[in-house]
Parts: sequence; C-alpha cells; structure tokens
Amino acid sequence: MISNLRLGWFLTIFCVSCILMFYQLQISRLYEQIRILELSQSKSNTILKESQENNKETINRDDDVVVIYNRVPKTGSTSFVGVAYDLCKKNNFHVLHINITANNHVLSLSNQYKFVQNITHWDSMKPALYHGHFAFLDFSRFGAKKPLFINIIRKPLDRLISYYYFLRYGDNFRPYLVRRKHGDTMTFNECVKRNQPDCDPNNMWLQVPFFCGHAANCWKAGNKWALTEAKKNLVNNYLLVGVTEELDDFIKMLELTIPRIFKGAVDHYLTSNKSHLRQTVQKEMPSEETVKKIQKTTVWQMENELYEFALDHFHFLKRQTLGDRPQKFIYEKIRPK
Ligand SMILES: *[C@@H]1O[C@H](CO)[C@@H](O)[C@H](O)[C@H]1NC(C)=O
Ligand SMILES: *[C@@H]1O[C@H](CO)[C@@H](O)[C@H](O)[C@H]1NC(C)=O
Ligand SMILES: *[C@@H]1O[C@H](CO)[C@@H](O)[C@H](O)[C@H]1NC(C)=O
Repeated sequence: MISNLRLGWFLTIFCVSCILMFYQLQISRLYEQIRILELSQSKSNTILKESQENNKETINRDDDVVVIYNRVPKTGSTSFVGVAYDLCKKNNFHVLHINITANNHVLSLSNQYKFVQNITHWDSMKPALYHGHFAFLDFSRFGAKKPLFINIIRKPLDRLISYYYFLRYGDNFRPYLVRRKHGDTMTFNECVKRNQPDCDPNNMWLQVPFFCGHAANCWKAGNKWALTEAKKNLVNNYLLVGVTEELDDFIKMLELTIPRIFKGAVDHYLTSNKSHLRQTVQKEMPSEETVKKIQKTTVWQMENELYEFALDHFHFLKRQTLGDRPQKFIYEKIRPK
C-alpha cells in the first residue's frame, strides 16, 4: 500500500518535471526564433533603405533615357559614335547599332511598329544610344513615348564629294576594305563635266529625306513639302542637330544636356586619337565651274536651305548654352507652403 503510494508520487513528480522540461525547451526555441526574426528584419530594413536611396539617385540620373542618332552617311558620324562606344562602359549605358538589310533608309510598316515597341520597352538596355542609317521615325504615331533624337548635318556639296571619293578610295577607318568603285580614278570635276550618274545632284537629296521621315513625298527629289517637314521635325522633334564643321561644340552641348550618357565626352573627343580618325582619302577640291553648276540645281538649293536652317538653329542654341556665363534657373514663390 505504502509502496504503491510512493510509486504514485514518484510517477506524478516525474510526469510534471517532464512537462516542465518540454515547455522550457519550447520557450527557449521561441526566443531563438524571435531573435532570428529581429535580425532579419533589421537587415531587410537597411537593404530597403539602401534601395530607396538608389532609387532616388536613379530617378535623378534619368536612367531610362533613350537617344536615337539616325546618322546621315558621310557627316562625321563615325567619329561621334566612336566616342559613345568608348564611354558606354564607364558611364554605364548601352550603344546599339541598327543594321537594316540592304542599307535601306526606310523601315517597312511592320518593322516600324516592331522597332518602336522594342526600343520603348527594352528596359535592360536603358539608358541607351541607338544609331543607324535610317530616316526620322515619329514614335507618337505608334502611341509610344518619344525618344531623344539627335543628328549631325553637313554642307550638301561637301557631303556628296566626300561620298564620291569614299566609294573610290575608302577611308583610313577601314583602309583594307575595297569599295564599290575602287580603281575608278575619275575626279569629281570630270564627273560633273560629263554628267555622270555618280555625281548627279539628285544624289544630294539625302539630308532632307532623313529629317523628313517615312512619308512617300520625303523621298521625291526636290519636293517642297519634304523640305518644310524636315525643318519642322528638326526644330520640334530633335533634341539637338549639330554640324560636321563644329562637332566639338555639338559634343559639348550634349555633355551639358544629357550628362548621364555623355559625361566626359568632350575630354575624350579632344584627347583620343580615334576622334579624328575617319577621313576619306584622296580629295581634290571642286573647281569653281563645278561648284557653280551644282549650285544651280534645285536639289542643291533645297538641301542647302535645310543646312543653313539647321546651322542657324544650332548657333542660336549654342549661344544660350555655351555662353560666357552659364545660365541658371531656380524655383521660387512655391505655394502653398
Ligand atoms: C549588317 O548585316 C549584314 C548581314 O548580317 C552584314 O553583312 C553587314 O556587314 C552588317 N553591316 C554593318 C555595317 O555591320
Ligand atoms: C528587343 O529585341 C531584341 C532582339 O530581337 C530582343 O532580344 C529583346 O528581348 C527585345 N526586347 C523587348 C522588350 O521586346
Ligand atoms: C595616340 O597615339 C599615340 C601614337 O600613335 C600614342 O602614343 C598615344 O598613347 C595615343 N593616345 C591615346 C589617348 O590613345
């Protein structure tokens, strides 16, 4: 009887201490979990703070900027693009060349749509500079956000002569490449005298259509509507259009305006050897007779009108931007307080 009572006591004490030990263990396990949770929360807080700060900077540095340079052939574009390729790693942006089959300067409608959608939504490439030989494309026609268009324009006769000799002698950029008219030694003056197709003034009809765009009339040599449209686009739809003869000022203005991409571009352009690299070999000055004959043509006159228009506009912007005293603006009288 007594031993049964003892056994009962013993069993009760044993059970109670087992239960106590079990809860003790549970409690210490919970404390451990709380500690881990607190630790991870403070960690995620600091990460959040960091990413918020990064976001702030990101917005400040306009990380989604897209620049399109629809370069006109033989205007000094290779030198400029070379600077961009040299800077892209340091400034952390992408440069992409758009290669259109058979050197076509206009895109088919389906490709226009594809191209606009792709460029607009390809976030992993942003900020980006796209370049290629194609006519201006109005993104708003597709309901998309407009990118920043830039371009460089050159005196139309200079450009034609440069292209003429380029086809015959190439340039010092890729001297090993045999060009289409290699071996033809006829000078530009002779060509004009003999009315050969290679120096046909209609070949100058290129800068007007490049700025005019993807409408049929743009590509009709001498079309008046095309010239008006080109001027309109140049002023309204281009961030900046420089001239070949003042490339360093063009780069200076870009660096001031979009430092996110062009920071350090001026220094690089002035010091690197590549910047002056591409020059067409073997140029002979056009004779007075040649110049007079070309200047009589409608196409030259209209192309030159666009060039003069662009030059005037460029100088106007340059005076405001690169003047002696840098212009500033501030906000004030901000209400309500
Ligand atoms: C464009 O692409 C074609 C075909 O892929 C290629 O042969 C050509 O060299 C490219 N052009 C340039 C300028 O890279
Ligand atoms: C844009 O086109 C490239 C090449 O075809 C493709 O790799 C990329 O995924 C496209 N981006 C978008 C957002 O459609
Ligand atoms: C320019 O070229 C010279 C000789 O060709 C070379 O010594 C120099 O390092 C080059 N400078 C740059 C900035 O590439």
